[in-house]
Amino acid sequence: MTDSTDIYSAARDGFRERYGREPLGLWSAPGRVNLIGEHTDYNDGFVFPFAIDRRTVVALAPREDGVIRVGSTFAADTEEMAVESLSPDRIAGWSAYPFGVAWALLQHGADASTATGFDAYFASDVPVGAGLSSSAAIESAVAVALNEVWGLEYNKRTLARAGQLAENQVVGAPTGIMDQSASLFGKQDAAVFLDCRSLDAEVIPLGFEGAGLEILIIDTKVSHSHADGGYKDRRASCEAGAAAMGVESLRDLDADDLPRAESVLDDVTFRRVRHIVTENQRVLDTVRTLREEGPRAIGGLLDASHVSMRDDFEISVPELDLAVATAQASGAVGARMTGGGFGGAAIALVPSELVADVSRAVSAAFADAGYAAPDQFTVRPSEGARAER
Ligand code: GLA
Repeated sequence: MTDSTDIYSAARDGFRERYGREPLGLWSAPGRVNLIGEHTDYNDGFVFPFAIDRRTVVALAPREDGVIRVGSTFAADTEEMAVESLSPDRIAGWSAYPFGVAWALLQHGADASTATGFDAYFASDVPVGAGLSSSAAIESAVAVALNEVWGLEYNKRTLARAGQLAENQVVGAPTGIMDQSASLFGKQDAAVFLDCRSLDAEVIPLGFEGAGLEILIIDTKVSHSHADGGYKDRRASCEAGAAAMGVESLRDLDADDLPRAESVLDDVTFRRVRHIVTENQRVLDTVRTLREEGPRAIGGLLDASHVSMRDDFEISVPELDLAVATAQASGAVGARMTGGGFGGAAIALVPSELVADVSRAVSAAFADAGYAAPDQFTVRPSEGARAER
């Protein structure tokens, strides 16, 4: 990880050193935190994430010979591939993200004859493996850079779709569109209320700073991957639940449908469905509560979301449960695990003056339980992907 003030020069200097010339420009994109709305994205539902003040910067310049080269501060090698050889099944490792986005933009109609090769060099201070979407930060940085360099003029929705396609087809993770959307649409002090069916995105002020609140990240260090196991299973259960209920996606169900769901579905599938149905409602309630009562009033919805993920969707782990319970008991307004689950991070919405207390209490609880020390830091809702000039 690089100091955040430094990632711009790290990308520029690294580019010069690796390729022996000047980049055409620098582009950057942030990681994200999901405030609420978990596993609802691939069910055509609602999510409410925000972009964070941790970014990935790419220094990039086109090449004349149709070759793409990618390097970074986090890998020693430079990976190389011709634009015309890009294909989803030829790419492995971290370079799947930049190569994958280049490939995905071509699938969205970019003209292969004008899509030049390029040199790219990355630096980032988005922690990897913490559930803060370091991968979406790479994808979105490349997407905005190529959108400009290749003259594509795609809107943010299309760029988000390209990032998701890269993730699904090239990386092999069957994820939804939340992370890329948060990284592209994010605004300072605001979250992105996204309807994952229409992809309508509304930027909603959070007002955390004015209310004296901060978001504390508690990274449990329990590693997770969405390319295997639990994430895929949950997605399959949701699809099976929707099919058994005769709807296109779980978005089409609401609380009134739950009694019928309970009689039609087996217990596990029913609880998976109940999580999605209630979580969609909690996203809508969070947006409304924020508007009507302000951020201190959303704590109960965050807490309820965690319970639903722990008991109905079963994607939490003991470390996340402990982080959430300890934060709640030591002064947080609300807390929940965030992201895909099975590890990664929890978030706590905490009055500024209590951040140190909450953080100390969580560290002590982890030590008592014999868990590895968590990594804790605050994040601020920040600007989405952009050109850096
Ligand atoms: C991961 C995926 C997202 C979303 C979340 C769960 O972050 O990348 O698309 O499904 O998990 O809400």
